[in-house]
Amino acid sequence: MDETQSGGIEHISFVYSIANRILHWIRAIVITGLVITGFYIASPFLSSGASSDELIYARWVSWHLVFGFILITAGLLRIYLFFFGPDSKSELNSLKDEFSLKSWIIQLKSYFFIGELLKKGMYGPLQFLSYTMIMFFVVLASITGLVLYIHVYHQGIGGMLYDSMRLVESWMGGLANVRLIHHITMWGFLIFIPIHIYMVIWSAIRFKHGGVDIMFTGYDYHLKKKENEEK
Ligand code: HEM
Repeated sequence: MDETQSGGIEHISFVYSIANRILHWIRAIVITGLVITGFYIASPFLSSGASSDELIYARWVSWHLVFGFILITAGLLRIYLFFFGPDSKSELNSLKDEFSLKSWIIQLKSYFFIGELLKKGMYGPLQFLSYTMIMFFVVLASITGLVLYIHVYHQGIGGMLYDSMRLVESWMGGLANVRLIHHITMWGFLIFIPIHIYMVIWSAIRFKHGGVDIMFTGYDYHLKKKENEEK
């Protein structure tokens, strides 16, 4: 691509397959829905006034469950794609940086404007750690959500999972703990989401690359550096 066509783009690469991009946005939408409905379920503040036959709380719970089962499906697919999908190789390459002290130092220094972020895989070590943690929260929210679910729905999936989820419940020290852990996952997302959005925009500006575009187009690009611009 020549410079006039590319508008000063130095390097362009395909990063995310369509499947991973779609799964990202599905999870972004349903996690938002789950946090909003979960917040309400934890402390129902709406009342239907005089009539009690509107079942507002039940409606919020049923939306919560719709979003919840979409999250479980999308989460399982994403875990599969992490190991076996088209982007898997470069995602797994990030593990090399994750366990390298040198890569950690390079990333942290680059965040303080000292040098560039050079990495072997798709993610920097701190980025990889935070995405792994948020995936752990998705798994924890899903499992604890299912434990809460089997106590209300005894047929279908609820019936199928009943015995295994009761086991998880006892490992977690009882239903009250399960509920507390489920509740805490919500705060994990509430903390992660603003930091995630901030960091995506910050790193796009800091490293002059298509950080925000990646999840829409799949492509990342790096802008040409001006002469005498500091590395
Ligand atoms: C981002 C993920 C999720 C968040 C943030 C979230 C949040 C919450 C919160 C805050 C509560 C209220 C807990 C309390 O009483 O303090 C709740 C309840 C519940 N959640 Fe989730 N949840 C998530 C995923 C799921 C999933 C995947 C399922 C399973 C399908 C699920 C099923 C339930 C059930 C059954 C309840 C109890 C409803 C009731 O008491 O009537 N949740 N959730």
